[in-house]
Amino acid sequence: MHARAVAAMTTALLGTAALLSPTAVARADAPGAPPTVLAHRGASAHAPENTLAAVDRAAELGVAWVENDVQRTRDGELVVVHDDNLRRTTDVEEVFPGRAPWKVKDFTAAEIARLDAGSWFGPAYAGARVPTLKQYVDRVDRNHQKLLLEIKNPALYPGIEQQTLKVLGNEGWLEPGHLAGRLIVQSFSAKSVRTVHELKPGVRTGFLGTPDVAELPDYAEFADLINPAHGSLSVGYVAAVHAFSGPHDRPLEVLAWTVDTAADARRVAGYGVDGIISNRPDVVRDAVGG
Ligand code: G3P
Ligand code: CA
Repeated sequence: MHARAVAAMTTALLGTAALLSPTAVARADAPGAPPTVLAHRGASAHAPENTLAAVDRAAELGVAWVENDVQRTRDGELVVVHDDNLRRTTDVEEVFPGRAPWKVKDFTAAEIARLDAGSWFGPAYAGARVPTLKQYVDRVDRNHQKLLLEIKNPALYPGIEQQTLKVLGNEGWLEPGHLAGRLIVQSFSAKSVRTVHELKPGVRTGFLGTPDVAELPDYAEFADLINPAHGSLSVGYVAAVHAFSGPHDRPLEVLAWTVDTAADARRVAGYGVDGIISNRPDVVRDAVGG
């Protein structure tokens, strides 16, 4: 059969949905498929959170999606770390004893690069570093993984949205192949999510939280996903979110966090969520597939 005829028949068989842009986590294009599993701060039950080791551990577990947290140093470098201070996940108190309260924004990138971000988790990870965003996305790319990037505490870092997009662009993450199914940018700040959408409309975006159903039309103007804490979810809420279309003219999707037990994973999967963010992605995958 002529190639054009094959293409026409394929289109007819698949229907118009196949002509639309893909969904953010690619589950909604496969009805009945299990939720996509995303490794929270990397596979953070298995390796120190938000380090390259946690990204690699997720890859070893066969987990494609990793979540991380981005903040900014005193001299303007984007780094991957969750808390607004460095105490819990590094040896900053030993290395810089006079620098309380050890805020990320009060240290230079060179100072942060000296810190051990692995020993707190276990001796096997001694010497792990707080990665820069550039180092992090390059490792995710090298591993052929996908990135759920959280802009953390954006009120502390004016302009961090534009700066994050610049790093992503420099490292090839704003190319069509990445935008179509390998990148989501999320935040607890609706303002920050809206800013990302306005600066780069091709980027899939997610709002972290559980807005009232009446507010969902507003969120659907700039967010492709609504990502609630799993305890706040119900089957009705997930259905309500799915009923709205986002800025890419696809139904809004739902990623639930942070789900670390098989029972919770099965519960939220039963609600119809599109993805599950977990410190223990292996446990979740065993429970629900995906
Ligand atoms: O991706 C969801 C989750 O990361 C949000 O909470 O505090 O772990 O960044 P947190
Ligand atoms: Ca996060």
